[in-house]
Amino acid sequence: MSLQLRVNRKIIPVDAAPDTPLLWVLREHLGLKGPKFGCGVGACGACTVIINGIATRSCITPASAAVGADVTTIEGLSADGTHPLQQAWQQLDVPQCGYCQAGQIMSAAALLQHTPHPTDEQINDAMDGNLCRCGTYARIREAIHKAAAAANSTQSGSSAFHKPAAT
Ligand code: FES
Ligand code: FES
Repeated sequence: MSLQLRVNRKIIPVDAAPDTPLLWVLREHLGLKGPKFGCGVGACGACTVIINGIATRSCITPASAAVGADVTTIEGLSADGTHPLQQAWQQLDVPQCGYCQAGQIMSAAALLQHTPHPTDEQINDAMDGNLCRCGTYARIREAIHKAAAAANSTQSGSSAFHKPAAT
């Protein structure tokens, strides 16, 4: 069955059963390997993408639920890695093994879309479901503050939170 999905600002027909997990569609049908398979039950956040502005676990989201919605993966956050979050992640050397980090960044991006100046508590709440076995939580929080400050200091930076780039 063909599903029409809008992923990273492109309308893409996908030949998949409606109940296929969105994560499978993104990785196996569309070749977007940023979202990762971790637990498969919505408990780790490695598969996080943004759907209509909300951080969403793609492993437990049927592809049919994304029809008519705006899906953004890490690949769509910026065309060249220049989103303020990606820059802050690089500047602070946030990743260790890296496996969880695309999901972390997408949860952070959803947070900053709605809360451009998050407190530590708001960051902790928003990032609560994104697990990191390497324990990079302190650097993640620092990078979110850094990205927020960078984006809020320039108009173009601020708009980056609201307009993910097409790939
Ligand atoms: S793989 Fe989706 S939440 Fe763990
Ligand atoms: S950097 Fe290794 S799991 Fe997070």
